[in-house]
This record gives sequence, structure tokens and C-alpha cells, in this order.
Amino acid sequence: MKNVIVSPSILLCDYLHLEKELEKIKEVGCDWIHLDVMDGHFVPNISFGNLFFERLFSKIDFVKDVHIMVTEPMKFVKQFAKAGADYLTFHYEACKDDKEVAEVIKEIHKNKMKAGLSIKPGTPVEKVFPFLTDLDLVLIMSVEPGMGGQKFIPETLDKISALINEMVEERSNALISVDGGINDITGKDCLNIGADVLVAGNYLFSASDFKEAYKNLLK
Ligand code: DX5
Ligand code: ZN
Repeated sequence: MKNVIVSPSILLCDYLHLEKELEKIKEVGCDWIHLDVMDGHFVPNISFGNLFFERLFSKIDFVKDVHIMVTEPMKFVKQFAKAGADYLTFHYEACKDDKEVAEVIKEIHKNKMKAGLSIKPGTPVEKVFPFLTDLDLVLIMSVEPGMGGQKFIPETLDKISALINEMVEERSNALISVDGGINDITGKDCLNIGADVLVAGNYLFSASDFKEAYKNLLK
């Protein structure tokens, strides 16, 4: 059985009690955290940005899995490196062509972070294939990016299967992460197919028992 990573998204957590929310993650033995950056342009909402994370990251000890839903991702690479991101995942659709995608990946690595590439539900998975050997993570969006608490799109599972086949061919070691509408059922479906990382926000933070919900994701 391969190692499963849960990356809790704090987008829908209780900000008034952020410290307690972060403790819940630590208490269950989880060491990843997923941060959603929205610019109000690539997606309709604005969430939080690099300065917020810079303050937060200096105080917490997690693998910082930062997902930037922004246009012109290149502009933000250095800022998130400075903020302390470990993984920086940007969107394929935010780049004008494949050349730009390759350049952003290179810049992320130059700034000593791991590089992730994400696709929206409407983008064919084949678009990430040319980059598989350079990437550390592929983030398959299973909802339209822009907000938490949406319903998982079942077609995502076919994308994961196609991605795995190609990764075997290409001998890529990138992690496959799935983001949006993950719960005990949809999460299991993704893991059964071969996903490595489950990003879960609403399911974990709206649960009356965080520990129980976390355990259910791993079962
Ligand atoms: C959506 C974000 C997700 C989201 C998680 O744009 O990328 O990370 O917060 O989704 P839920 O709340 O469905 O787990
Ligand atoms: Zn996300």
C-alpha cells in the first residue's frame, strides 16, 4: 500500500481560531497543509496572499503545499519562495503557452521549491504530459477552482487513470494530488485508482470530529 498524504486546505477553516485549527491537523499526525491563493482574476474570489503566509509560515511546521490560482504565475514565484512554500502549484490555464509553463517550472525549482502543475476540470489531462518528468506534483482539480465546499466531479477519476498510465511510460515520480469535493467516499475512489495526495477542506473542517474524518480519509 503506498503512502497516502492528506493535505488539509484551510480555506474553510475557522479563522477566528486558526491556531486551534492548525493544532487539529498536527494532533492527527498530519504534516501537510494546503493553502489556496486566489487573485479575483484567474478565479472570481480573492483569498489570501504571500504576505499573510509569510507571517503564518514562520510560525508553523508543516509541508506547505501552496496552490496559486492566479494569472501570470511567474510574477509570484519569488514571493512564495520568500514566504516559505515547499510545493508551489500553478495552473496550466494561467499560462499563454507550453513554453511559459516550462519556464515557470524552472523558476520554481531555481527558487528551491517543488513544482506542481494544476488543471481545471475542463482541461484535458494530456496537457500536462509534456512536463511530467520535470514536475514534482500534478494537481487534478475535481471541482471548478475558486471556492471550497463543492461537489466532486466523477470524470476526474478517468483523468487520474490516464495520468498514471502516462507517468508509468515516462517514469515520472510526480505525486498525483486531487483537489475539490474530497470526502471519505470520493477520496477512496481517488486512492484506489492511484492518487497520492488528497486535498480536503470542507470535509475535514466542517466535521464535528476532525480526527474521525481524517481517519476515514485514510481507511
Ligand atoms: C478550490 C480549492 C480547494 C478547496 C478544497 O479552488 O483549490 O483547495 O478549498 O475544496 P473542498 O472544500 O471541497 O475540500
Ligand atoms: Zn487548492
